[in-house]
Amino acid sequence: MVAVRASEIGHLPEKDAWAFEALKELFVREKGFDLEAYKERCILRRIYLKVRSRGYNNLGVYYRALSRDPEELEQLFQYLTINVTEFFRNPSAFQYLEKMIFPRVMAEHSLHGTFEVWSAGCSSGEEPYSLAISLLRAKRRHRIRIPFHVLATDVDRAILARAKTGIYSRESLKNLEEEDIKEFFREEEKGYRISSEVRECVTFRTGDVLKYNPGPMHSLIVCRNLLIYFERENQEKIISGFSRNLFDGGYLMLGKAETLIGKNRLYFQSVSPTERIYRLREAPLADNL
Ligand SMILES: C[S@@+](CC[C@H](N)C(=O)[O-])C[C@H]1O[C@@H](n2cnc3c(N)ncnc32)[C@H](O)[C@@H]1O
Repeated sequence: MVAVRASEIGHLPEKDAWAFEALKELFVREKGFDLEAYKERCILRRIYLKVRSRGYNNLGVYYRALSRDPEELEQLFQYLTINVTEFFRNPSAFQYLEKMIFPRVMAEHSLHGTFEVWSAGCSSGEEPYSLAISLLRAKRRHRIRIPFHVLATDVDRAILARAKTGIYSRESLKNLEEEDIKEFFREEEKGYRISSEVRECVTFRTGDVLKYNPGPMHSLIVCRNLLIYFERENQEKIISGFSRNLFDGGYLMLGKAETLIGKNRLYFQSVSPTERIYRLREAPLADNL
């Protein structure tokens, strides 16, 4: 078989249009996953890399193989969801949360009971566990007694199963101090297991960020390196959804390459432009954007 040409990667050749439509329908039917919501170039680029790596010469042939092979479909799903992550990714963002935001929120929210955090698009768990470790350290440093809880959601069930196991390689702990590794992990034959103290702070749930609404009880929503994959209108829709799941005055943290879109700039004010941290206004600004 002749492999797909490099020039076909990232755009849709006329002859493959039907197969792309059929593939999108297959994903909705089998995985409940809507590829339409994502940036088309990005999705096509990855699909064609897969087509090429499998040695097929067009998307139609690959689609037929996919529709008969649930294992291959799962592998493509995993490839498209892009699970890259690490503990304390962009460490300065976590330092900012730990020093500037957590003490303030814990003091302000003493009336609300539990301090609820939502990590949306949590991948294999490094982000929610990093948040829990930061929160435990902040509580200790500031002698605060407020309980907290981290809800961690992702659309990819397989990656959530890994997150729940909580076992990581030594390499993935590179952003942690030795004393934190000793305190928050236990070395085992298979790697480093997250401690039960941290594990018990985090609940994992399957959820599509476009539809999932856990409720307006959150003081902080962290959604990093996920919005960039969505079309602009869906980025706006997702951020609006976050505003409905935060307390007034709650915080939103995005990834380094992400920012507020459209009308959402009326609802949030910037707290740290460099760390992409925003705060939900109690009253939105007048709409003159
Ligand atoms: C690049 S990872 C980012 C992980 C982590 N937030 C970080 O910044 O290190 C993106 C994650 O978003 C998840 N994801 C993709 N589409 C999603 C959706 N519609 N709803 C929820 N999670 C989604 C992927 O499965 C993946 O685990």
